[in-house]
Amino acid sequence: MSEIETGAQDGAPILDVRDLRIDYPIAIGTVKAVRGVSLTLANGETLGIVGESGCGKSTMGLALIDLVREPGKIVAGEILYHGKDILKMTEDEKRAVRGKDIAMVFQNPLTSLNPLLRIQDHFVETIKRHNPSVKRKAALAMTAEILEELGIDRSRMREYPHQMSGGMRQRIMIALGLIMKPDIVICDEPTTSLDVIVEAGFVDLLNRLRKKYNLSIILITHNLGLVAEIADRIVVMYGGKVMEEGPARDIFHSPIHPYAAGLIDCVPNVFLDQDALTTMDGNPPDLVTPPVGCPFMPRCPRAMDVCGKTDPGLVDFGKGRKAACHLYPEASSWKS
Ligand SMILES: Nc1ncnc2c1ncn2[C@@H]1O[C@H](COP(=O)(O)OP(=O)(O)OP(=O)(O)O)[C@@H](O)[C@H]1O
Ligand code: SF4
Ligand SMILES: [Mg+2]
Repeated sequence: MSEIETGAQDGAPILDVRDLRIDYPIAIGTVKAVRGVSLTLANGETLGIVGESGCGKSTMGLALIDLVREPGKIVAGEILYHGKDILKMTEDEKRAVRGKDIAMVFQNPLTSLNPLLRIQDHFVETIKRHNPSVKRKAALAMTAEILEELGIDRSRMREYPHQMSGGMRQRIMIALGLIMKPDIVICDEPTTSLDVIVEAGFVDLLNRLRKKYNLSIILITHNLGLVAEIADRIVVMYGGKVMEEGPARDIFHSPIHPYAAGLIDCVPNVFLDQDALTTMDGNPPDLVTPPVGCPFMPRCPRAMDVCGKTDPGLVDFGKGRKAACHLYPEASSWKS
């Protein structure tokens, strides 16, 4: 990590997000996009954040480096990186962390790469921003090395983004994310613009890179198939809250929360031998006036009266599993 002093403890999570709340004030009210989300990321772990469109995944991802888009505001919570709250850092400290310690790989490489800049100059710019003393020649050598690591011949460094295929542009975005050797990479919908074959290559690539660079990865996506292949743990978000979290394999095999179960039913599952593809009826809640009780109630096949009256809150089921659902009043007894 950077020169920032930390209060990190051995075995403590590399990232510890506590009760994060994020609002977007708009003309008709305030979109409460993230409503009290806590999560942790361990060293070397890949965490998948999943959920339908609009549930707050990207807002969470951007918040982790304090870059929520206007008019968004982080209104409460802590984001402890190696024990130090990113939200309390100075702007200079935050700039040092972004890209250098925590990198972000965005959804669409075409909009993230500058069409007027050669590929190599994207890298030189990033390297010099974090380390102005590096000479251009050394920066180009670093660029060639990381591109070759990702299977792109150094002869292509001088080309422009439009000369590359979609899959190559995605690898360039990952290479740009990795160039400063960060601890954490946050990928937001990294395969959205890729076809299925290129997506399969992406899974192998990410698995190889995470081992080689000991990366901790946050993978934000609505693609559960992708998460099933890569993630160690999953956080399932809905209506700006966490509905369930736990080891990926456990959630795929036996989801606790009806929303997690519904999502899993919608994908051909790599752990279960299931071919049927279903879709879930209904839409996520309006976050300007979020429901008082369980946000999933209008769509939940198992809803009860109590579900509309009080929010169940996230309950610890033991073995790293948590879920927010009134169906399990005895949940804490599962721990033993
Ligand atoms: N700039 C913005 N201004 C106002 N509201 C916003 C803004 N960005 C996001 N929102 C709202 O915040 C909520 C969460 O959006 P977010 O983009 O984080 O969801 P998401 O889970 O990433 O969705 P998707 O899967 O479509 O990317 C949504 O209700 C969205 O409309
Ligand atoms: S709390 Fe109630 S409505 Fe919500 S998921 Fe559980 S059973 Fe369904
Ligand atoms: Mg998003």
